[in-house]
Order: sequence, then structure tokens, then C-alpha cells
Amino acid sequence: MNELLDYIEQKKHDESRQGEALNLELNESSYKNNKHFYIESYGCAMNFSDSEIVASILGKQGYSLTTNIFDADLVFLNTCSIREKAEQTVRQRLRSINEIKEQKSTLLVGVLGCMAERLKSKFLEEEKLVDLVVGPDAYRSLPDLIQEAETGHKAVNVLLSREETYADIAPVRLDTTGITAFISIMRGCNNMCSFCVVPFTRGRERSRNPQTIIAEATDLFNKGYREVTLLGQNVDSYRWTGDDTNKADDTENKEANVLVNFAQLLEMVALVNPLLRVRFSTSHPKDITDEVLHTIAKYNNICSYIHLPVQSGSSACLERMNRTYDRAWYMNRVEAIRRIIPDCGISSDIIAGFCGETEEEHQDTLSMMDFAQYDYSYMFFYSERPGTLAARKFADDVPLDIKKRRLAEIVDKQYQLSLESNLRDIGKTYEVLVEKVSKKSEEEYCGRNSQNKMIIFPKGNYKIGDYVNVYIESANKATLKGKVV
Ligand code: 5AD
Ligand code: SF4
Repeated sequence: MNELLDYIEQKKHDESRQGEALNLELNESSYKNNKHFYIESYGCAMNFSDSEIVASILGKQGYSLTTNIFDADLVFLNTCSIREKAEQTVRQRLRSINEIKEQKSTLLVGVLGCMAERLKSKFLEEEKLVDLVVGPDAYRSLPDLIQEAETGHKAVNVLLSREETYADIAPVRLDTTGITAFISIMRGCNNMCSFCVVPFTRGRERSRNPQTIIAEATDLFNKGYREVTLLGQNVDSYRWTGDDTNKADDTENKEANVLVNFAQLLEMVALVNPLLRVRFSTSHPKDITDEVLHTIAKYNNICSYIHLPVQSGSSACLERMNRTYDRAWYMNRVEAIRRIIPDCGISSDIIAGFCGETEEEHQDTLSMMDFAQYDYSYMFFYSERPGTLAARKFADDVPLDIKKRRLAEIVDKQYQLSLESNLRDIGKTYEVLVEKVSKKSEEEYCGRNSQNKMIIFPKGNYKIGDYVNVYIESANKATLKGKVV
């Protein structure tokens, strides 16, 4: 580990120009033009994190952020393609923005992110309301594209990159609490889960230079942030080879080239400061190692919480999903978590009604939920995404009413599990990071424990950003309530 830290120190020294670039970005944003941009984000945390990169790039060009769409000269929707419903929501939003554009002809509207990549020219031809279409790897070209759009031309860049990690760009934080932040550690995904459009919209996997990750975490801590979430589609396959172009990823002996793996990165971020909590998402059951679990167990400030999407509890269904693990493997990983981090919170993503799913396979998913005792799950019914392996290989043959019924059973099961898990916490005391004033009462704060459960408690004399110990007095399926002790 020390060698690694030395290596990072050395790199910091060698690449001090990169550090300068990071500062430069922050300084240059003091220049202003008179234009305002407005940005809305849809979908996953990665998309929200990307919007912060976009805000940084635009800030550097002198654009100011506005949260009032009617003040904006540029309106961006950072879109999601993962399910059909997400795309429908964005289309509806675009239509309502068009009404504003009718009143203000100079307004430029841009579609960013996964939908931009997926629908490219369709947006420009069919949806006259869009002026810019910019894919997730093309945000550096935004200033040029805006200029082009200002001259009345439609501007498009949806090229995917093998290298882009935006490593040198200091994100402009768009959330207002100032306590928790996302740090993107990698981009893209090399897994080919058959239901998933992400490998097509976000391209090949690449890992970000760890020195820039540590610099970002340190900067956040110094600004008063107390929790960072390291983001990637599959964080367990984070691997830094010392090569910013990520070329080494394609060599035969990949493992031998890895200088920093995910467990080591976690440790390095945990060492930034014991008061900085570290979370991460998303873990892949095939890749999560005992080394990662031992690292979580070793550091108090690495949160005891793992989002470990199972997708299905049936080995046959997992094979059609191309998840590359089976039911027994997943159970083994859950057992390892329980053994190495006994107090760990576990959550999941679950898909109901995937192609060919039988009633028995659905029952396997329900029994897997009982086995894993998830504290929380994100649950969906399958929606076919054009171009994916499943769309090409399998019929979307589970009728909608059956998909919905199975999803309802999964949701009911999860509500029950969440309630039971929360009731078990009554009488325990947890360290909580005070995040914000509770939505329901001005007199109460809320914050999370290490296991990612939301806890509500009377404000007392504490302030946002403090750590407090809360004794749990009551619980429902969504939250715990208690008092500071
Ligand atoms: N249909 C339904 N759910 C999907 N997900 C990804 N693709 C699809 C799809 N085509 C879910 C998976 C994934 C989460 C982010 O979204 O559960 O883990
Ligand atoms: Fe999609 Fe699978 Fe990659 Fe997750 S791991 S982004 S579900 S392909």
C-alpha cells in the first residue's frame, strides 16, 4: 500500500501541471458572459455527475447557471435511455420546453447524455425543437457546438471515446447541501448484460487516473463535504494501469498491468480523512472481491453498504441476461459480505418479466430476496431496448399484465423486507452524518447511517455536516426515527 501511495505522490509531482489545470478550471470560471444555462438531469447518479462536468465546461466559457428555465439562453436535458419510460418522460419535457422556445426564438435547446447518443439524427430531423445533440463523451466540444448552433445550424457530436474520463475537469456541484458529492471514477461498461443499452450509449469501460480522484476528494473535504460516492457502472472492475489513454486495457495480461485496483482506490480515498465518508456504486456480483470486502471492514469511514444488483434469482434467467454469474455464485457473494462485514446493508436491482421468464424463475427471484434480506431494492419490469442483445436474440414474450403482477409481488416482498430490517434497528445507536433539514418538519434533521438508511431526529444544537449518534426509537419501511445520545 505504501508503495502505491508513494507512486501516487510521485505521479502528483510529475503531473503537477494536471493539478494546475484543476485549479485553472476553478479560477477561470470567474469570467462571465451575459448568458445563462439551465440543466435538468434524468436517470442514474452517473448522469447527475455528468451534468456537473457540463456545468464546469460551460462555466469556463463564462455561462452562468440558472435554476429558472425562463431566464435561460441555453436549456439542456441530460437524458437517460435505460428504460422506455425514461425516454418518454424526456420527450414530453421537450415538448413543454418547445412552448417556451416559441416565445423566445433565441433559446437553444440541447439534448445530452444517453438518449442523445441513441437517437442522434432522429432528434434533429423529427424533433425540430432540438438545436444540439451531444453524447456523454463529447462534452468538451460543447462550446464549439453552441457556437455552431447560434449561427442557426444544428450541432451534433455523439462520438464515443475510448479515453475520455474528464479526469482534469473540476465538476461544479449542482446539489445545494454541500455535504455529499459524487465522484466519477470510471466511464462506460464492458459487460454485455443482454437487457442493457448502457454499453451502446456510454461505450467502452475506462478508469480515471486515481491521482485526480484523490485530488477531487481532498478538495471536496476541504470545502466542507463529508461524504463522497465513487461512481461507475461496475466499480469492481476499476483498474488503473498508469496510462491515461487506457490502451493497456486491451493487452492480454490485464491483471499484471494493474497499478491500482478498486480495493486499493477505496483505501486511498478513505485515507484522505477519517471524517470523509466513502460510498460507492455500482458493484457487480461477478467482480466484487473479498479484498474489497476486507477493505470496507478495515476502515470505519468506508460505509457498510453495498448495492449488488441481482437482476434475477434464477440461474437460467441470469444466463439469458448474460450476467455471467449464477444463483449459487450470487449467494456465495452475499455470504461473504455477511461474514466479512456483519453489519453491512445490501440493496439490489431486480427486473421482473425478462424474456422467457417462467413462473418458477420468478419464484426463484422472490426466494433470492428472502435469502439476501435486501434492505432496499430498485425494481423494474423489463422493457426491450432497441439494439441490445436481448432485443436481437429473444422474444419479449412475457405479457405486460404478467410483468406487472410479478413486479407487484417483488415490490410487496421488498416492502416487507425493508420494514423488517428497519424494525430490527429499534434500540440500536448509529453514527449519522447530518445532511439536511427533514422535509416533514423544520424542527428535525435527517441523515444516513453507514448502512445508507435515512434517519430523522430532533435538531438540537447540531448543524449540517456534523456526525451525531442517534438512538433509534421507531421505524417504518422507509425511515428510522430517533434521538441524539
Ligand atoms: N428493462 C428494465 N430494467 C432495466 N435495467 C436496465 N435495463 C433494463 C431494461 N431494459 C435496470 C437494471 C439495472 C438498472 C440500472 O436498470 O436492473 O441494474
Ligand atoms: Fe448495463 Fe450490465 Fe453494464 Fe450494468 S453491468 S451498465 S446492467 S451492461
